[in-house]
Amino acid sequence: AEQTFIMIKPDGVQRGLIGEIISRFEKKGFYLKGLKLVTVDRPFAEKHYADLSAKPFFNGLVDYIISGPVVAMIWEGKNVVLTGRKIIGATNPSQSEPGTIRGDFAVEIGRNVIHGSDSVESATKEIALWFPDGPAEWKSALHSWIYE
Ligand code: GTP
Ligand code: MG
Repeated sequence: AEQTFIMIKPDGVQRGLIGEIISRFEKKGFYLKGLKLVTVDRPFAEKHYADLSAKPFFNGLVDYIISGPVVAMIWEGKNVVLTGRKIIGATNPSQSEPGTIRGDFAVEIGRNVIHGSDSVESATKEIALWFPDGPAEWKSALHSWIYE
């Protein structure tokens, strides 16, 4: 099944949004296959956001991501990469719809609470970077009540 990498950024952790965010993915019908609270160092954050290294906001972005612990997660389910991005909402919270995580809980693009992989390819790379031991193996007893 498809998997994505989701990270609650340091502002989301500080603001007590961990439970709320996990709850939204859980209630949707996705399965949690990896979870850790971790503070990453600068080289690691630069690797995670390597595609953005030429952007003017890159150093500020890395400062933000290393400013405290983040919650790194693997979520699994049908179309979870794209649907996860919809649950998260637009990058700039000024444009995120109410009902999305960023629409409900964020104001600034540089404090937008959560990250989600933008494609299946990125998800594969990010999961390998953050979870070198791979995902947990378990199957929900409710599976057939959520998936046809
Ligand atoms: P992520 O899920 O965090 O990867 O966000 P995204 O895929 O919606 O956006 P993108 O990958 O383009 O940018 C990564 C992160 O960089 C964003 O989530 C923002 O926190 C930050 N960012 C992007 N654009 C800007 C910008 O113009 N200014 C600032 N300050 N930060 C930005
Ligand atoms: Mg991105």
